[in-house]
Amino acid sequence: MLQSIGKASRVFELGVWQGGSAARWALTMRLTRYVGIDCRSVDLLFAESLRRHPRWGAVRLHGNIPQADRESLRRIADEDFDGPLDVVVDDASHMYADSLASFDTLFPRLRPGGIYLIEDWAWAHRPRSQGPDA
Ligand SMILES: C[S@@+](CC[C@H](N)C(=O)[O-])C[C@H]1O[C@@H](n2cnc3c(N)ncnc32)[C@H](O)[C@@H]1O
Repeated sequence: MLQSIGKASRVFELGVWQGGSAARWALTMRLTRYVGIDCRSVDLLFAESLRRHPRWGAVRLHGNIPQADRESLRRIADEDFDGPLDVVVDDASHMYADSLASFDTLFPRLRPGGIYLIEDWAWAHRPRSQGPDA
C-alpha cells in the first residue's frame, strides 16, 4: 500500500483544517494535483515560502464544502482532475452518513488499485468519546 501511495499523482482529501496535510502531500510527493475540501473556510495563512514553492502549484483548496455534498464533490473532481484519482483521504467529520456519501461519490473515481483511506474511524470507541459530555 505504501508503495502505491508513493506513486500517487492525484490526491483528493476531505478535511483540510489548517492545511498541514495539504503542505505535506504537496511538498513530499510529486503530485500533479492535490485537492482539499473542508466545510469551513480555507482562507489560510500559508507561509510565503510555501505558496511560492513550485510544488504548491498542484494544490487546490475549496472551503465551505460539506463532505456529504455529492454534487460539489463531483463538480470539483471533474474540474480539478484530469484523470482518475490515486488516493482519497477522508479526514473530515468521521461520521458514518457523511463518510458514506463521500465514499459513494469518490470511490468510483479511483483508479484500479487506488487507495481510499478513512482516518480516525475508531474515535467513537475511545473512552473519552463515550461519556455523557462527549
Ligand atoms: C482532523 S481535521 C483535518 C486535518 C488535516 N487532514 C490534516 O491532517 O492536517 C478535520 C477537518 O474536517 C473538517 N470537517 C468536519 N466535518 C466536515 C464535513 N462534514 N465536511 C467537510 N469537512 C468537515 C473540519 O472543519 C476540520 O478542518
